[in-house]
This record gives sequence, C-alpha cells and structure tokens, in this order.
Amino acid sequence: MQKPVPLLDLKAQFDGLREPVYEAIREVVESQGFVLGPRVEAFEADVAAYTGAKHAIGCASGSDALILALAALEIGEGDQVLTSPFSFFASASCAYRVGARPIFADIDAETFNLDPESVEQAITDRTKALMPVHLFGQCAEMESIGALAESKGLPVVEDAAQALGARYETDGGLRMAGAIGGIGCYSFFPSKNLGGFGDGGMVVTSDDALAERLRILRVHGGRQMYHHPFVGWNSRLDALQAVVLQIKLKHLDAWSEGRAKNAARYDRWFEETGLPTEGKIKLPVRMPRARHIFNQYTLRVEQRDALREHLAGRGIGQSVYYPVPLHLQECFAELGYREGDFPRAEQACKEVISLPVYPELGEEQQRVVVDALVDFYR
Ligand SMILES: Cc1ncc(COP(=O)(O)O)c(C=O)c1O
Repeated sequence: MQKPVPLLDLKAQFDGLREPVYEAIREVVESQGFVLGPRVEAFEADVAAYTGAKHAIGCASGSDALILALAALEIGEGDQVLTSPFSFFASASCAYRVGARPIFADIDAETFNLDPESVEQAITDRTKALMPVHLFGQCAEMESIGALAESKGLPVVEDAAQALGARYETDGGLRMAGAIGGIGCYSFFPSKNLGGFGDGGMVVTSDDALAERLRILRVHGGRQMYHHPFVGWNSRLDALQAVVLQIKLKHLDAWSEGRAKNAARYDRWFEETGLPTEGKIKLPVRMPRARHIFNQYTLRVEQRDALREHLAGRGIGQSVYYPVPLHLQECFAELGYREGDFPRAEQACKEVISLPVYPELGEEQQRVVVDALVDFYR
C-alpha cells in the first residue's frame, strides 16, 4: 500500500519553523498582550512593505476583511457589489452582511476569474463596488477591470484571500495582488499560502482616510474607547497570530515558488501522459500578465466525481473548489438568479478538481498522483 498523499501538509511546513515559532509564542504568552498591540503593528508594517500598500489593517478573518472593506467604503442598503459566482461563499456574503446585494458576472472559462466583458454587462446604476477574486492564487484581469471601474467611478475591492504574494503586470509595472485596486483583502486561514494558527485577516490600502475608517471599524467604530461615532465590529488580529504570520511571511515567496515549480512539474508530466490532448483533463491556464502562486492546482476533468472516488481510494487528497456557484446558493434564492445565468461558472463547478501542490510535496508523491490519474483514464 503506497503512502497517502495529503492535499496539504502543514506539519511538513511547521517542521522547518518549530524553534522560532515556539520562541515567538512564548514571548507573547510571557507578555500577556494578546489583542492588537505592538506585535500586530509590526506584522501590519511588514505586510504593508511586502505588498507596497501604505496601510495594512489586521482583523479577525478574511471574511471580516471583506466586510470591513465594504463598510469603510460606506456600502450598504440599496447598493450592489459585483463579484464572481465561482468563489468561496464569503466573496458574496460580505456584501449581504453589510446590507447590500451581491450581484454576479460570469467567469472566464480559462482562468476561472471574472470575465471583464461580462462584468461590464452586469454593472447597473446601483452597483457601488467591483470585487474581483484572485482565485486559486492567480490575479483576475485587473487592467481591464480597473479601467472599467475608473470609467464608471467605482471602487475596486480585491478579494485576494487566496493570493497574497501573487504578482500582476500592470502597464505601470509589477504589482502585488491586493494592492492593485483601491483596497485589498487577505485571509490567513491555515490553508492559505500564508496561513496562521487559526483565523486571521488583513485589509490593505494606500488611502489614508479609508485606512483610518478601517482601524475604527474593527474596534466597534470608535477612535477612543467607549465613544462610538460609528457602529463597527469586534474584529481584531491577535498577537499570537501576528508573530506566527510574521515569521512565515519571510518564507512566503520561497513557498509560492515551490508551489509554482510543482505546478509546472504536474503540467509537464500530465502533458507526457497525453491526457490533456485526449481532452480527459485540462491543465490550469496562466495569464501572461499574472504570476500564479497556486494556492490550488485546479484541473478540469472528465468524470470528475468518479475520479475523486478513485483518488480517495488510493489515499490521494483532492478537493472540489467549488461544487455550487454562489448565484445558486439556497440562501441567495431571493436574489432571483436561475440555473443558466452564468454557464461558465456552472460548468466549472461540475468539472474542477484540485490536487496537492503544497511546496513540501515531493516528486515521488507527485508521480503517485499523476499515475493515479493515468490509471483512472486508461
Ligand atoms: C476567495 C476567498 N474569499 C474570502 C475568504 C474568507 O476568508 P476567511 O476564511 O479567512 O474568513 C476565503 C477563504 O476561505 C476565500 O478563499
């Protein structure tokens, strides 16, 4: 029986970080300073420097980062936020949670990211923000989406939950996912490329006024304790998360390179099997402007659900991100969307499967995965 290949192996990552992480945690515990404070500020400064944004504001999760970003833009009742129907639930629920209405446009069939033409058609008079998602670690077409937003006078909120460290070539130079539009949101959920020891999130912006509002909104809407000009949230980043994430941030680019290298090796080996030419599987497509960091290595495949079972039977980790498009979620029935509204997103939900691509994944393990697909289709 061959050894299982997990979808993600955080223990392998932790093996290389054990000593500094335990020491940093020990220091926080000795200080007994747990919520926000100097350690969170230091990590925020590091993320600002890394992304090139002027401000970074830590909060309790990536979902909260999106909610805080929309609230800071004063988006609420009667407004629409346009996002991708092929994403994690939070990309749409954040709009709902601030009292606005999530609306959708179809995706590009190759990249799984929002299709700018479809976005243009979906914008209405009530649309108050565009929220592209940089799905699986590859930036959406920000040049076209940004130009569209500018022509309509709309802010761009980047859902960069899966893409901290991804780059994108703009006409003005290479930019970091999350720091391309006006405001960007990250998640530090453990499975993200920069994952903490629990939930955590961050918003970045170079707009001073927005940053100030974000800092206020995450602490119940007051600059000064017990004085509340706004109704905010309790959504703060913990010092324990900040010190762990600060250590990990130093490795992020190397890890992202490791993922990209593994993705390239899969591509090569899958090409050699002939499966892509036969149309059994379709490899991930890289956009020329984007530097994909492969938070997920996602194929389109024939007989997806049977393949999943076959892989699971061999102890190979895999997952389907995402089986149901957001416009067809039960809770959004009231939005009035129907099956067939976004055919490319719906098709993707039926065909995608994500395979292990984490940086510590060995060649031998990748061979096991590739062989398993070959055995299934032969
Ligand atoms: C695209 C996307 N948006 C938002 C989120 C929400 O982040 P979190 O789980 O930290 O709340 C996630 C993470 O799962 C995500 O993948």
